[in-house]
Amino acid sequence: MPVDIDYAERLPKIELHAHLTGSISRQCLHEIWEMRRQREPDLKLEDPLVAIPPEKVDYDVQTFFPLFSSYIYKLCDNLVSIEFSTRRVLVDFQTDGVVYVEFRTTPRAIPARNITKDDYVKTILNVLREHNENGSNTMRAFLILSIDRRNTAAEAQEVVNLALKYRSAGVVGLDLCGNPAKGDISIYTDAFARAKAAGLPITLHFAEIAESGTDEELNTLLSWRPDRLGHVIHVKDEFRERIEEANIGVELCLSCNVHAKLITGTYADHHFGFWRTTGVPVALCTDDAGVFCSPLSQEYYLAATHFGLSRDELKELAQRPIRAIFTGAEERSRLERVFDN
Ligand code: IMP
Ligand code: ZN
Repeated sequence: MPVDIDYAERLPKIELHAHLTGSISRQCLHEIWEMRRQREPDLKLEDPLVAIPPEKVDYDVQTFFPLFSSYIYKLCDNLVSIEFSTRRVLVDFQTDGVVYVEFRTTPRAIPARNITKDDYVKTILNVLREHNENGSNTMRAFLILSIDRRNTAAEAQEVVNLALKYRSAGVVGLDLCGNPAKGDISIYTDAFARAKAAGLPITLHFAEIAESGTDEELNTLLSWRPDRLGHVIHVKDEFRERIEEANIGVELCLSCNVHAKLITGTYADHHFGFWRTTGVPVALCTDDAGVFCSPLSQEYYLAATHFGLSRDELKELAQRPIRAIFTGAEERSRLERVFDN
């Protein structure tokens, strides 16, 4: 029987590349807006269902990043909204059949409300802990902290401090994200070296656009000895070989890459077609399910449809990320049991 969407939904899935704020659905943003409007009658923000039209998914590098800085962060600028949206994102992923997730988020201070980056991280970790402690939940959730390419070297060190401080509370890794057209990533070398020396796993957005796929940038990123890489689009054979030799996990996002026109062509042209034939851990991921409106089940369904995968092949693919998770043996064994059943 060919793969259908029902099969893709029932399949246990592992999500390793999901930006927390980018995973908030428009409906959830709308509810936050409604709640705020009742408490703040002179709220100046537009309804999310107008600001981010429900059918619109064609956000590209120019329009995607401002969506956060000029809208979503303004809407979710308080701890109540951050807790509410985090809970909702957890429910959305679990309902979609995700059994393990490493969300990532950029620590954000909101001075107007006296919220520090520490408060932000602590608030999210509390929601994840509550979720993980509830025995009726089938998904377990962890957190990666992101350094944004617009951060200064000192801000990057602050993210490392938070990651190390909250390691025992659910932070499992460090990421480099943000607009790939911006910044000089070499300024973060010391921050990533410190994380790596402390044994904190690292994942990096890698060659998302041609400008961030220069030999110089990719050599620097690989010199940090990353455990996983996200996107991996504009890479020459030489870098592909180095990634294979080092057996680095790759986090691939089909819909995001197609809608944002990060790749040339469409689903069938995606470099997933190359990486699936290698031995490295491959993880299909959503990136920003709230923006691109494609849950992880849909990503698996698209892979099956465009690359002719059978039900057994899709199940095998869903297990491939187990080797690349950042938590360790206990979760690895749990996931193996989930797939055995
Ligand atoms: P947050 O870190 O939880 O606030 O999630 C949203 C942020 O993730 C955005 O402001 C971006 O900096 C980052 N982000 C989301 N998607 C991408 C991507 O595809 N490439 C690089 N950065 C991204
Ligand atoms: Zn990403």
